Amino acid sequence: MSITLVDQALERIQHRTAKLVVVGQGYVGLPVAMRAVEVGFPVVGFEASIDRVKSLRAAESYVGDIRDDTLRRALDSGYLPTTDPGALAGFDIAVISVPTPLRDGMPDLSFIEQAGATLAAHLRPGACVVLESTTYPGTTTELLGPILADGSGLTRAVAGGGSVGGGGGVEGQFFLGYSPERIDPGNLTHGLVNTPKVVSGDSPGSLAVVTAFFDSLVDETVPVGSCAEAELVKLLENTFRHVNIALINELAMFARDLDVDVWRAIDAAATKPFGYMKFTPGPGVGGHCLPIDPSYLAWRVKQHLGRTFRFVELANDVNEHMPDYVHGRVTAMLNQQRKSVNGSRVLLLGLAYKKATSDWRESPSVHVARRLTASGAEVRFCDPYIPDVNTQHLTWPLVPFAEAELADADLVIVLVDHPEFDAATIAAHARLVFDSKNLLRGHEFTGEVL
Ligand SMILES: NC(=O)c1ccc[n+]([C@@H]2O[C@H](COP(=O)([O-])OP(=O)(O)OC[C@H]3O[C@@H](n4cnc5c(N)ncnc54)[C@H](O)[C@@H]3O)[C@@H](O)[C@H]2O)c1
Repeated sequence: MSITLVDQALERIQHRTAKLVVVGQGYVGLPVAMRAVEVGFPVVGFEASIDRVKSLRAAESYVGDIRDDTLRRALDSGYLPTTDPGALAGFDIAVISVPTPLRDGMPDLSFIEQAGATLAAHLRPGACVVLESTTYPGTTTELLGPILADGSGLTRAVAGGGSVGGGGGVEGQFFLGYSPERIDPGNLTHGLVNTPKVVSGDSPGSLAVVTAFFDSLVDETVPVGSCAEAELVKLLENTFRHVNIALINELAMFARDLDVDVWRAIDAAATKPFGYMKFTPGPGVGGHCLPIDPSYLAWRVKQHLGRTFRFVELANDVNEHMPDYVHGRVTAMLNQQRKSVNGSRVLLLGLAYKKATSDWRESPSVHVARRLTASGAEVRFCDPYIPDVNTQHLTWPLVPFAEAELADADLVIVLVDHPEFDAATIAAHARLVFDSKNLLRGHEFTGEVL
């Protein structure tokens, strides 16, 4: 790779003259765009959804961690949210943060393919593309790289000094890298800036450019040896959580049958200062990561090695069973009260997949609600983080967190431990409670804990 192209790219980053495009303005892309504006880059937020662009232009944030006034300041500083691919012209750095869902249990990389094709039309020598979407090892160099090279006619530098793709020479090269996003929605302690960011490149030049770019956004970067390594880092982190949550969920179910208080055992185990990390049981896993990412890894292992990633399969099995388990437990509780699920009024506390967020994609709460509805229950949701505007496709009514709602329900199920759910109020007003998060610990109430 020509030293000049690397030097030029580093200089543009250092002087904040590099034009940045962030493809996908969702939970991951919007915070990156906001941070880049804050440190002085000119930023285009390229987004496929017209509705989202309209909200962004009106400084109305749909991402919990980004405040409206942050968005307003960014717009005033030149941040440009748009659906127009023409706005990508002349970009120096592009970050891709588009969805990577499963379709029929298989990785759906069509959003990355689409983003790559759009960027390729505007790719210039010395420009850099970084993928942030979670995906299996190999995606950046085997899928995205060729799309960018073929669509632009440029070449990609590779380790060892050669180049691949397109028809251009060294002077016609572009940089490519992968950097997993570790954003934790609702986490007030660790955000984008103070969470170390793993970075990688498909060549030493790419790594230098990707590292320099993220060094300008975050406190600490962690360079790794290849894009595949960086892709695996993200899947390792999420598979680790997925497996440990499954372990504690299964343990919780057995502990109950053994008549042991698992919550007290977990707290006591957590006093060990080394070799243990605390996980707690719950109604299942949700969000864009845990129910999906480990399956990307399992799919890749199966495709390439013909082997089954047993830990992932087992964890999927246990975690997907949890909504059924909750349904079974509350059915038994109502039975004891000579009541049936059919006809009971059930108030579900928490629709989001985790506390203090508004994200309810893949939320286990929805699975619990579906099962209860199928059994004839009259289900309502309470979730202070989710405004009505986000719930057009929600089948169940959203009600406020109020004493009357708690008292009117035959059964209240705590599914999320949002800080707004005051334990004393629930304990005092709910007639019967199933607490899947041990929120009511220390309070007298009628009901059971998961
Ligand atoms: N949400 C999280 O907490 C989190 C954390 C770490 C990693 N990730 C990963 O980051 C990626 C993005 O996740 P997200 O939560 O931000 O998703 P999201 O759905 O909130 O945002 C993605 C955005 O990309 C847009 N988009 C799709 N295709 C596009 C295209 N071709 N051009 C322009 N815009 C396009 C969508 O309209 C959407 O607004 C996923 O791979 C996810 O697994 C998410």
